[in-house]
Order: sequence, then C-alpha cells, then structure tokens
Amino acid sequence: MSNPNLSQAFKEYFGTAAERAFFAPGRINLIGEHTDYNGGHVFPCAITMGTYALAKKRDDRNIRFVSLNFKEKGVIEFTLDDLAYNKAHDWANYPKGMLKYLKEAGHEIEQGFDCLVYGNIPNGAGLSSSASIELLTGVMLEKLFNLKVERLDLVKLGQKTENQFIGVNSGIMDQFAVGMGKKDAGILLDCATLAYEYAPIKLDHHKILIMNTNKRRELADSKYNERRAECESALKQLQKKLDIETLGDLTEEAFEKNKEIIDNEIVRKRAKHAVYENARTLKALDALKRGDLPAFGELINASHRSLRDDYEVTGKELDTLAETAWKQEGVLGARMTGAGFGGCAIAIVENDKVDAFIKNVGDVYEKEIGYRADFYTASIGDGAKEMTMEELV
Ligand code: GLA
Repeated sequence: MSNPNLSQAFKEYFGTAAERAFFAPGRINLIGEHTDYNGGHVFPCAITMGTYALAKKRDDRNIRFVSLNFKEKGVIEFTLDDLAYNKAHDWANYPKGMLKYLKEAGHEIEQGFDCLVYGNIPNGAGLSSSASIELLTGVMLEKLFNLKVERLDLVKLGQKTENQFIGVNSGIMDQFAVGMGKKDAGILLDCATLAYEYAPIKLDHHKILIMNTNKRRELADSKYNERRAECESALKQLQKKLDIETLGDLTEEAFEKNKEIIDNEIVRKRAKHAVYENARTLKALDALKRGDLPAFGELINASHRSLRDDYEVTGKELDTLAETAWKQEGVLGARMTGAGFGGCAIAIVENDKVDAFIKNVGDVYEKEIGYRADFYTASIGDGAKEMTMEELV
C-alpha cells in the first residue's frame, strides 16, 4: 500500500512544515487468544503496517489533530487545559487520553502541537489500530517533550486509555505488542507477571498471511465484556476450592480434575478455553524453538477450534476463512486473530502456494459470505518509534 505524501498534507492543513515523524505498528497474535485478561500467555508480534504521525510543536497551548483516514472529521482542536473525553472529538480521544494520563503521571507537557495522522492498517479489523494510535501518541509525546518514560509505562498508559478513557475493557496484549515489538520476532508474554521473551519467527519457506473478513465488528465490545465476565465467574467458583489467582494458574490436568466445581456448562467451556489456550501457547513456543513447524501449525488450528467451539467468538466469516484455509495445499495452520466476531484471521502458507491460496480461499469466501475478503502478507516489524522525515517517503 503506498502512503500519501504526508509532509505535503501537513503543510496544507497547518500552513507550516512538520518537524518530526513517528510510526507505531499494528499487531497480529500468533496464538494465545483471550488469555491476557485471564493471567495467561500470549504470543503476538508487531507488523509493518501501522500508523504514522507528523508533528510540530506550537508556541501556545493549543493542540490540533487531523487524520487522513477520517478527513471528513476535519481538524480536531482542543487545549492542554481541557483534556476531558469529548464525544465530538471522535478518534482524537485516543491521543487525548494518552496526553491526559502522561500529564497525570507527572510528565511535563506545557506546550501545544499540530499533528497529522495516517494509518494503513484497516480500521476495526482487529489488528489493533487503537493500540497503534495510543502508542504512536505516547512515543511522539516522549520525544517531542523529552520525557523520561519507560516503554512499559507507555504500554500501561495505552491500556489505561483504552480501559478508562475510551471504555473498552481489554487486556494488555495489544499495547504490549505495539510498544515492544521487534523485527522478525514474536513476543511470548506472561500477562500475569509481564515477564516476556522474544522468539525469532523462523518459518522457513512460509509467509504469514492476514485474511480480513471485512465484517464490521459491531457487537464485538459487548460480547468481549460478556466473555470476560464469564471467565471471572468461573474463576470465582474455582477459588472456593483452589488456591489460584487467575485461570492462567491452572494446568490442563488441574482443570480436568476440578472443572465440576463450575456449575454452568457454558462458563465451564469458557474456562476450558482459557486454560487450554494458555497451555497451547507455551507448547507453540516450544515447537517453534525446536523448528517443528507442523506441530506449531497444528496448535494454531487447535486454537481456532477452541475459539469456535468453547469460547464461541469466531462466527461464520472467520470460520469460513480458517476452515477453507485448512484444506489448501501448503498450509501449516490458520486461525482467527484478535478479539474475534469478525476482524482478521491469519494463515501460514508456503511461499509458492500463496497465489493459489488467496484465489481459492477468496473465491470460497465470496461465494459463502456474499462479499470479498482481503489478503495481506504480514511482515513482522519493530514497535513504536521515531523515524526521520526522509524515511517517510
Ligand atoms: C483484543 C483485546 C486484547 C485481547 C484480545 C483477545 O484484541 O484488546 O487485550 O484480549 O482481544 O486475545
């Protein structure tokens, strides 16, 4: 995807040249889905698609944002003296939340700025466009105002913005992947302790493809919160007998031994997913380290089946993509990625089978669902960073 001329656009909107440029990626999750808020492990990576910002400090306390993705919203203006959530400020509430929480954490930001944003991650596709803009803002403010702030703190403030400012009760995976990503590596993160390690993603002659259902994720937030509540209910019941802090503390064996404590069958299935998915994530890392790609692929497939049957967050669109992908030649594995209910799936496909794969899966999807899916090759890239103005082109 070629980017528009951002420097030129900045000049047109703000009548002056931009001085600094920033980038924050989107993310895919290889495995470990709906485990982050259950104190389990996740295994995401940052991708090279993401969000760019150009910025220039101002001499007053005004802040102006414009997004080339939401041109119809025009320039959104506020001042450092009113950082309350404002519905009319639409997408700019994400950067505003970061600004507010950085200031509240004691960082000195006493000068306004102009900022132009452009993203090439499809919005609402489950590739973390919101975490991307949060961390983009975090790094931009860090650099523009010479803040001394740890990357992990920016990650946590990103999650706080999402949870408290925007009101989506998500876990820490997305902000962590976007903030801490590393080229060609996945991040194995223990969400209970935030201990993490980078694991090189060596897939030999395979590519990771992102398959976008192009389904709007309308009910996603309410269903997401419902799943969280179901897991909390499972945990509470288990805690009556077991000394655990999260579902991530349970092994598969311990779960099987104690699952009857959970009195509701649906809640039991949700907990089963959380426990088994956590175990699968660790097994997947092992398989990758051993270079056992077929085992890695099978764990990815098992993750999708569990999200389909036990966690019930896939839906017809994601199932059609994953299940059709499984039948194609040269496919190691395929699964939904992110929250589910639409959004994207990933497939790991042999290089020289990619074209046939896209044609076959694309045709079946269009026939079954009635509209087209999009396919992109995912390259694994770095986390949020400053870049030079020249690198933008
Ligand atoms: C969304 C949330 C994450 C995580 C995933 C599911 O992406 O933002 O915190 O819970 O769903 O794994």
